[in-house]
Amino acid sequence: MKALTITINPSVDKSSSVSGIVPEKKLRCDNPKYEPGGGGINVSRALKKLGLDSLSLFTSGGRTGKLLESLLLEESLQILPFSVKNETRENFIVVDTLTNQQFRFGFPGQPFSKNEQKILLDTINAIKDFPEIAVISGSLPDGVNVELMKDLIQICKNKNSKVVIDTSGEALTAAVEEGVYLIKPNIGELAVLTGKNELTVHTMETAAKQLINNGSAEIVVVSMGASGATLFNNNEKIYQPAPLVKVRSTVGAGDSMVAGMVSALLNNSSMKNVLRMGIACGSATTMAEGTGLFKTENVYKILKELS
Ligand SMILES: Nc1ncnc2c1ncn2[C@@H]1O[C@H](COP(=O)(O)OP(=O)(O)OP(=O)(O)O)[C@@H](O)[C@H]1O
Ligand SMILES: [Mg+2]
Repeated sequence: MKALTITINPSVDKSSSVSGIVPEKKLRCDNPKYEPGGGGINVSRALKKLGLDSLSLFTSGGRTGKLLESLLLEESLQILPFSVKNETRENFIVVDTLTNQQFRFGFPGQPFSKNEQKILLDTINAIKDFPEIAVISGSLPDGVNVELMKDLIQICKNKNSKVVIDTSGEALTAAVEEGVYLIKPNIGELAVLTGKNELTVHTMETAAKQLINNGSAEIVVVSMGASGATLFNNNEKIYQPAPLVKVRSTVGAGDSMVAGMVSALLNNSSMKNVLRMGIACGSATTMAEGTGLFKTENVYKILKELS
């Protein structure tokens, strides 16, 4: 196993559709569909589509946790569920078929105890043949101290694993304080991280270079949605525009981008190709409806177009 993904705040995403969303009336939704959700989990699902097995570690509690485990096993993912007392959260997504608008209701993740956090760290520490790359992705549940992020990173680094981070806010700040291999903020997340209201192409470069110079991250990939992404490391700055695609839903684009970059890193690809693979996977996911991830054939079509 070459990659480990860690998801501290996973979810089961329940989606449905209804014809016309109006108040006060009983809304008759179609049969719900249940899908696994959460940053690291999606990265593992996307890696699987690229033909790469990863170990997906996530917290799992109650009935929703069990449902999440079974959904992932159905997709033949290698899972390491970490049992916690509190119920795993469920999110709700509904499409109004009259307007084709998507409404996404997110619920807070439940905190887990200090003792559970300690056992979680011990569990990670005990993983045999520790994977080359560890991806920590997604938010932390409310009430969990960001110190946990630092502890997770430290353990992975002690195992000589390259740590890839995709999170935001205080968790991202904590991660860069610890120092990691790669971060993939979108431009808004990078602005918050560097204490700016917003960033331009020019100030983005200054912000990214500063993070590299002070040891926060070796590689900073700033994603900009339809405008593509720029990769910075200590001696390169590479911009890759995104391809023009028919966008159906951008859900999962960021996670897919991370998976694409991880797969290229595991192949010892050049930084240019790491970025291209990230863009190809991210943009291919925007071509899929709803919460769906990319079709692998679309990834390779886009890659060809980009090169
Ligand atoms: N509208 C779009 N058209 C084409 N490609 C897109 C579009 N939106 C996103 N992408 C692709 O996905 C990548 C990541 O998107 P984005 O910068 O929006 O990440 P993000 O904000 O982290 O997303 P997420 O909300 O999934 O976390 C982009 O670099 C691009 O390749
Ligand atoms: Mg993101």
